[in-house]
Amino acid sequence: MALSAALKFGLLPQAAQRAWLAEQPRDRLDQMVRGDWWWIGRPEQFAPAGNWLVWLILSGRGWGKTRTGAEWLVNQIMRHPLDALGHRTEWLVIAETLNDARTVCIEGNGGIISVLARLGLVQGRDFKYEKSPRLMIRFNTGQLIYFLGADDPDVGRGFNAAGCWIDEMAKFRYTWNAWFEGILPSLRAPLIDDHPRTVVTTTPKPIKLLLHWNHTTDGIVWSPVIMEPMPARSTLLRATSAPIVVPMTSASA
Ligand SMILES: Nc1ncnc2c1ncn2[C@@H]1O[C@H](COP(=O)(O)OP(=O)(O)O)[C@@H](O)[C@H]1O
Ligand SMILES: [Mg+2]
Repeated sequence: MALSAALKFGLLPQAAQRAWLAEQPRDRLDQMVRGDWWWIGRPEQFAPAGNWLVWLILSGRGWGKTRTGAEWLVNQIMRHPLDALGHRTEWLVIAETLNDARTVCIEGNGGIISVLARLGLVQGRDFKYEKSPRLMIRFNTGQLIYFLGADDPDVGRGFNAAGCWIDEMAKFRYTWNAWFEGILPSLRAPLIDDHPRTVVTTTPKPIKLLLHWNHTTDGIVWSPVIMEPMPARSTLLRATSAPIVVPMTSASA
């Protein structure tokens, strides 16, 4: 694993640390003190550059997958508050069940509420967290995050989403259909200088969709990046940080 900016800074000699700190503007110092993601995130926890559709992070527990998904999603919402037509953007977060979405992706240690709180967004003032009739976060500026459980065979269907984070996908019941029939067709909001993207954060299991992504290597549209570490003996063992690009035609397979 590579080092975060904070850890690299910690390895510098004291004189170099002081000189570097003296050059930083006040708001950057504040960000460091509050532990912003650019400061404490490891390089492999930042989305790769390029025109990918799926960033696939396969790794064991404690790697920081959930936190990476939450940080990425919040960052995308900040970057794309409106779509290219001027509509406020809608986002999807999908977990194994609604309960997992609530306890892990929203309220968990590395979940969305803790990311928003760190950024100074106050619940009730800057966003509302609604548990019924739908599990969702509603920003006072109009953006919505819908939280869904993949135990619903229709998960993801019928949205006009600007992006999606899928946590623990390898545990889902209906992964193939959920992706091709529910989620993928809903990734359709027109974005300014971008397109809807999906981050998949999951402990690995040789399910059909992950194997499909793992073994398809040509084309130009999707580039799930498989991140280490992965478990030995897994058929998904393919430690590479190179993009694996999957052809567009697979989307309708
Ligand atoms: N780069 C990091 N620096 C500090 N804490 C981190 C970092 N990445 C993740 N964490 C924290 O580590 C804990 C485990 O992360 P989590 O995202 O739940 O891991 P995973 O989903 O891979 O099991 C969480 O409390 C999370 O906030
Ligand atoms: Mg997790």
